[in-house]
Amino acid sequence: MTGGSFSRVGVVGLGTMGAGIAEVLARGGLAVVGIEVDAGALERGRGHLEGSTGRAVKRGRLTEEARAEIIGRVRFSTDFADLGDCDLVIEAVPERLDLKRKVFAELDRVCRDDAVLATNTSSLSVTQIAATTGRPAKVVGVHFFNPAPVMRLVEVIGTVLTEPGAVERVADLVKGLGKTPVTIGDRAGFVANRLLFGYLNQAANMLESGHATRDDIDTAMTAGAGLPMGPFTLMDLIGLDTCLGVLDAVYDETRDQRHAPSPVLSELVRAGLLGRKTGRGFYSYG
Ligand code: CAA
Repeated sequence: MTGGSFSRVGVVGLGTMGAGIAEVLARGGLAVVGIEVDAGALERGRGHLEGSTGRAVKRGRLTEEARAEIIGRVRFSTDFADLGDCDLVIEAVPERLDLKRKVFAELDRVCRDDAVLATNTSSLSVTQIAATTGRPAKVVGVHFFNPAPVMRLVEVIGTVLTEPGAVERVADLVKGLGKTPVTIGDRAGFVANRLLFGYLNQAANMLESGHATRDDIDTAMTAGAGLPMGPFTLMDLIGLDTCLGVLDAVYDETRDQRHAPSPVLSELVRAGLLGRKTGRGFYSYG
């Protein structure tokens, strides 16, 4: 068993990140309860998991039997009450504070008193989310990177209210899943996004000012700096709404101009062009 002190883990929200997190947990041998708002969203979540594990089978990285076992470990449900026997629940719903607060209030109600509650937020305050529950000592941030089954880093965030044991237990779980944890305090952007998004925003500003084209900037950073993706391809993968959310949060906290969102990014988000997930962002897809 790779889950350390956790054996049954809930995941609330099975979008790109939540489904990826559910896959990582199920691959680690844990029993997973995957929650979505309705049957349609649940089917899309199952589709993410089937697509991702199906690709691994095609590439010869997973047998068909192992794939069936992984999917079989996930119980799909639209009923929060099914989280009652989980010892950890990871929330991965869209990045809206009102929505996350609602989810945490519900989790606080249905989960065991000793269960740890975690948020995968990339831009909201974990402290603010924790303070909406009656158990802030048991609330942590657990920030996976996209695509979750591939990226090794997981940031584990403790607030001033979190008991140290909860952070340690979650960091141990992350290690058991074959990922690399870093444990940090609750500051906008945590570590990786705080550094990465200054660069991504700078690329958007370069495009905005006519300094270079989208393709030339992407090529410069893949062929010249050895990165797996150029900044525009990466922003489209992350989702432009998420990018804007992270930049807004870091800018609000620091007033550092490098994080003042580039107008081109805000404009694309206003137009509903959010990247791969909507079929168009800086690039167009399929
Ligand atoms: N789900 C599951 N597996 C995936 C996947 C996905 N969405 N996308 C790719 N993979 C797997 C592939 O199956 C493949 O696995 P194998 O090697 O076992 O066959 C492997 O990843 C490599 O994929 P590809 O060969 O198709 O493509 P690639 O070599 O270009 O790699 C990539 C794709 C891993 C995404 C790579 O381009 C990369 O690392 N890009 C940078 C990603 C990054 O920086 N992410 C962090 C964003 S910031 C963030 O997420 C934080 C936030 O809060 C916003």
